[in-house]
Amino acid sequence: MTDTTKSIHGEWSSRFAFILAATGSAVGLGNIWKFPYITGENGGGAFVLVYLLCVLAIGIPIMIAEIMMGRRGRQSPINTMTTLAEEAQVDSRWHYLGWMGVAAGFLILSYYSVVAGWALSYVVKAFFGGFSGGDAEEIKSLFDGLVASPVQLVFWHSVFMLATMMIVRRGVSGGLEKAVRFLMPALFVILLLLVGYAMTTGFYQQGLDFMFEADFSEIDANAILTAMGHAFFTLSLGMGAIMVYGSYLPRHISIAKTAIYIAGADTIVALLAGIAIFPIVFANGLEPGAGPGLIFQTLPIAFGNMSGGWLFGFLFFVLLVFAALSSSISLIEPAVAWLVENKGMDRHSACIWSGLVTWLLGVAVAFSFNIWSDITLFDKSIFDLLDYLTANLMLPLGGLCIALFAGWMMKRQHTLQELEMPEQQYGVWKFLICYIAPAAVFLVFLHVVGII
Ligand code: PFF
Repeated sequence: MTDTTKSIHGEWSSRFAFILAATGSAVGLGNIWKFPYITGENGGGAFVLVYLLCVLAIGIPIMIAEIMMGRRGRQSPINTMTTLAEEAQVDSRWHYLGWMGVAAGFLILSYYSVVAGWALSYVVKAFFGGFSGGDAEEIKSLFDGLVASPVQLVFWHSVFMLATMMIVRRGVSGGLEKAVRFLMPALFVILLLLVGYAMTTGFYQQGLDFMFEADFSEIDANAILTAMGHAFFTLSLGMGAIMVYGSYLPRHISIAKTAIYIAGADTIVALLAGIAIFPIVFANGLEPGAGPGLIFQTLPIAFGNMSGGWLFGFLFFVLLVFAALSSSISLIEPAVAWLVENKGMDRHSACIWSGLVTWLLGVAVAFSFNIWSDITLFDKSIFDLLDYLTANLMLPLGGLCIALFAGWMMKRQHTLQELEMPEQQYGVWKFLICYIAPAAVFLVFLHVVGII
């Protein structure tokens, strides 16, 4: 691989542009919608601690590996894996890892888009003062009414998918690169405002205690798996999203520093979301384990009871939708890049086909909240099943393979050349990627199936 090899899909304009796009991919519904509700379901503090440990010891080293592999391969994850396997002179079947990533991207986006659709419908509700003066009960029935309606869910899911595909069609550094530049800081400011509101509820300390006092009796094998899976989900790891973004990264940019920055920003947003939400949960006698509807049943209470709340509510959900969009485009990008490279499609047709498949799957997810709610497999609805399969199994498995490939298959001179790290830091990364990350994922898997 020479210094001049570039991706055929284009390149980020700068390191900052890459950081924005990758942070945009990482920060999304996972931080604001999912992190608080799974923390609530899994008892709080101990879960948060396990999640933070996973981000540090598994997430960051794997993110470095994914960016590095993407930049070296310079193509869609499937073709990147083929190229890298050839270069390392190992079995070409490693490229199936790319396929699993494409599949995971489709599956995640199908339910991600339905949830983003909830946020879209809340933009309208907030704008028309739908939360004003609402108590916990009214706000809950608002949410229950939404998910009970297949027509509304499919409508909003369709709007979100359309928006996603229109952005992806314009290519990586089109409008979104610019939009993310001010949307991310704006989201951060509104979260701070919500934390401010949470402080006035009288239950702020209780919320903090719930999030940061670790009681390990609350946690079992499945909670640990969920925490680990979420570390992958929230950092967009294990399926090639960050790899494909890495393939558009110019050379001579410090990958390690960039990865730490992205993971740091992502973690701060998730923690802020939790700190804002739990005091509101306790102040209104709600259940922290209320499930996927948690933010939709709590934050509107805050918006409905603060002055100017309709405006803040409106802005918050608009920003949440944008955060979701900057993630959804990265979920579909590996598939689109592959269709362009291998099937000779232009970006336009690649977007139509991949968008259509995801949309259809998403319709099934939307129905799983209402007319198909009694269709279950392993005791899980279609939504729950897709979430479990992707976040808890496919992403960690993908991450495990990425760690094994980067740590054990790639030649030292190649990883060193790509990472350009001082010897000592390289040693730390190598240790984490060769031993700690794979062992941790493997042990958690064994623990869940009951072998240890
Ligand atoms: N990281 C995104 C979030 O936290 O919302 C979701 C996601 C995006 C997961 C891209 C996986 C991915 F490849």
